[in-house]
Parts: sequence; structure tokens; C-alpha cells
Amino acid sequence: MEGAVRAGIDGIDADCGGQLSCATCHVYLGEDWVGRVPEPTEDEDALLEFAAERQENSRLSCQIFVRSDLDGMEIRIPTHQAS
Ligand code: FES
Repeated sequence: MEGAVRAGIDGIDADCGGQLSCATCHVYLGEDWVGRVPEPTEDEDALLEFAAERQENSRLSCQIFVRSDLDGMEIRIPTHQAS
């Protein structure tokens, strides 16, 4: 999330600044990447329930911590956020 905000990527508003209370950082992980990050916590899962267009690969990007082995991760932004 922080990388997207710094890069000015449209669709990642991150209104709560990563405090896990807004879901405006909702993203879809690429199929091959879902199992390569830790499972969502109960709090993240609960907040995702309020995210529009939730899918099985939905995550809140503020809860994904960048590591070198995640280089190249495929992430898509839900259509309603990108417009
Ligand atoms: S930035 Fe608000 S929940 Fe991720």
C-alpha cells in the first residue's frame, strides 16, 4: 500500500493510512501469489467483508509487507476503485 501511494497509483486511496479500518487499499493478488503471503488475519478478513467486489484472492494491501521474494508480485485493483 505504501509503495502504491508513493507511486501515485490510482485506486489505492488508503484513507486510514494502513490502520486496517477503511478497505480503500483493496487489491486482488495474482493467482500464483496468493499462497506466498501470510493468510489474512481475522481483522483483515472481517474488514474485507465490507469491501465491494470481494473475491477469493482479495487482500488489503496495507497488510502485505514487502519482502524481496515478493518481487514481481501481480496485483490488480478492483474496477470500481480504479475509476
Ligand atoms: S489503508 Fe485502510 S485498510 Fe488498508
